[in-house]
Amino acid sequence: MKEFKIAVIPGDGIGPDIIREAVKVMTKVGEKYDTKFNFVEVKAGGDAIDAYGNPLPQETIDECKSSEAVLLGAVGGPKWDNLEGSKRPERALLGLRGALGLYANLRPAKVYNVLKSASPLKDEIIDEGVDLLVVRELIGGIYFGDRGTEEVNGVETAYDTEKYNVDEVKRIAHSAFKSAMKRRKKVTSVDKANVLDASRLWRKTVNEVAKEYPEVELNHLYVDNTAMQLVRKPSQFDVILTNNIFGDILSDEASMITGSIGMLASSSIREDSFGMYEPIHGSAPDIAGMDIANPLAQILSAAMLLEYSLNMSEAARDIEAAVEKVLNAGYRTADIYVEGTEKVGTTEMGKLVLEQI
Ligand code: IPM
Ligand code: MG
Repeated sequence: MKEFKIAVIPGDGIGPDIIREAVKVMTKVGEKYDTKFNFVEVKAGGDAIDAYGNPLPQETIDECKSSEAVLLGAVGGPKWDNLEGSKRPERALLGLRGALGLYANLRPAKVYNVLKSASPLKDEIIDEGVDLLVVRELIGGIYFGDRGTEEVNGVETAYDTEKYNVDEVKRIAHSAFKSAMKRRKKVTSVDKANVLDASRLWRKTVNEVAKEYPEVELNHLYVDNTAMQLVRKPSQFDVILTNNIFGDILSDEASMITGSIGMLASSSIREDSFGMYEPIHGSAPDIAGMDIANPLAQILSAAMLLEYSLNMSEAARDIEAAVEKVLNAGYRTADIYVEGTEKVGTTEMGKLVLEQI
């Protein structure tokens, strides 16, 4: 029997509700493949602030580092909104990404056929197909650059810095091109090269890396245009390669297009197989603990974990197929509910998926 140590961070809001279901699903699929997962639960975000006064305790970092992969729920909530920047729950996310060196964030946005009507876009746009992957640089740029708040000539002033070096751009560009090779072989690199120096270096470097992937078609778009194109014709995109801040914004837009953000998983990875896996959606504190949150994005994050970090693609396919079966059978959580389907809660949805494995 194989054994893997998995760090589990339920976090805040609906995090604990949905991660519970994902852990059950992983355990079940583990039995099928003669694999034991040793889940080690640790705290981060508001949960850790309440327990230790620190959003990212060293113990959490250490447990993650000594694991094969990390499964994360969500962090943050209004309870901690008034804390100073460096003490907020979101710091835990940025801190974990940085400490673990997770420079590549892969955020797929795909419209499930049975959930097509959930998309806010017109049918004729959706019918062209939406199946894209945002590859976001995750540990550089303005979210990690120099920052400060100071008085300049008696006026309170704040600044943040967008800064990238060639090596940082190269490695994330390679992630994007490699992903594209497994998909439809198209990369759209997104920047603001008409204004920003950091973007001009980005574009030049991406063009260099592209030479190593002659089969992949590369184009460049400005970020404002990309925001527009995503709603005008999302089918034109395969892999979107971009920096930390643009990727943050565009991945939210891309997930909204699918209409079912409660279904979307993401991975944050580096060169080796280690990674952190989490739903794209946030902690939804307003529905926490009510057993109504959609656990599917979390369950699909577990599938991604199996595939990328543990090399268990068959088990991952099993989970994905189970989710599709449950949707095809007409079960929906409140966020994706439409008339004529059957509404179920978090635990029930988890159980239905489990039964299909
Ligand atoms: C995300 C989130 C985080 C980010 C926040 C919570 C720091 O929006 O994962 O996209 O901006 O990276
Ligand atoms: Mg975001």
